[in-house]
Amino acid sequence: MKKIIDRLEEKMILPKEEILRLLTTEDEDSVEYLFERARAIKEENYGKKIYIRGLIEFTNYCKNDCYYCGIRRSNTKAQRYRLTEEEILLCCQKGYKLGFRTFVLQGGEDLFWTDEKLCRIVERIHRSFPDCAITLSIGERAFESYKKLYEAGADRYLLRHETSCEQHYGRLHPKNLSLKNRMSCLKSLKRIGFQTGCGFMVGSPFQTLENICEDLIFIKEFSPEMVGIGPFIPHKDTPFGNYKKGSAGLTLKSLAITRLMLPKVLLPSTTALGTALEDGRMRGVLAGANVIMPNLSPKEVRKKYLLYDDKIATGDEAAESIESLKKSMEKIGYCIVTDRGDYLK
Ligand code: 5AD
Repeated sequence: MKKIIDRLEEKMILPKEEILRLLTTEDEDSVEYLFERARAIKEENYGKKIYIRGLIEFTNYCKNDCYYCGIRRSNTKAQRYRLTEEEILLCCQKGYKLGFRTFVLQGGEDLFWTDEKLCRIVERIHRSFPDCAITLSIGERAFESYKKLYEAGADRYLLRHETSCEQHYGRLHPKNLSLKNRMSCLKSLKRIGFQTGCGFMVGSPFQTLENICEDLIFIKEFSPEMVGIGPFIPHKDTPFGNYKKGSAGLTLKSLAITRLMLPKVLLPSTTALGTALEDGRMRGVLAGANVIMPNLSPKEVRKKYLLYDDKIATGDEAAESIESLKKSMEKIGYCIVTDRGDYLK
């Protein structure tokens, strides 16, 4: 197994069968070696720095009906909310004081937020906090819309591909959504000049280990600046409410393999991982992640932005707990920095 890991480090890619062997190995020494090499490669590029991003969940209205997601249109139990422009700016202000230099605006695909309104809030954040990066995570939009948002001052865009297998994509999403369109959006984002992020859930219903291998190979080929990988966690009021949650161990291995394939990638240790596993976010960092995205949303809405059940929302993952986050990172030898944390070219 060590040979395979060394080859992955050297070639930054592996044949599918060998990725599969890494994903399935239960040999603890091999897994520890995989994580160790992923950490070493992260540190060659980013040192001991861990970047933080302030996550602002600004709307949970969504026109889509993805079978896995708690804020899907058909979930009538979701209490819908939308932050105002002023509330969003207040989140940024609070975040800035806490040391955040990246704000991530994440939301459902909410038709209220037209290009015009979105561009206006992006411009306002950009003008008020000129030394901060703005990341958007608001789903599929037209090329022209992405372009306007980029020109308004957005720097980065997160859009998980969810799965690189057409058939699997069809089992996670209703018919009006397609992998083709998702991929076309990702290409547009890249072409426009966004630092772009794709990614997937580990253990989503019907996913095979082969799917994960293909997702990792797709990620290598697409070569994004950011990659989001977290375990699937069921939400009780969705069609997938009774499916089992994804494996944290497989998630950690997927993070480590991603780090070795894309040494410079900005790789968050996700909230979902922190929800699925006690110390999950710390374990993610020890498996090669170098980004943490604490929640900056107003406290009243955090419990409404529920993509999955039992989302952590008041502990260390909250932006207010940054001091405690700093301490827990220092304990494992890392250091939270106040920095935009752009992709290293
Ligand atoms: N469990 C884990 N992750 C989820 N997401 C949506 N629903 C769930 C869930 N039930 C992820 C999707 C989406 C991102 C914003 O959150 O991958 O792209």
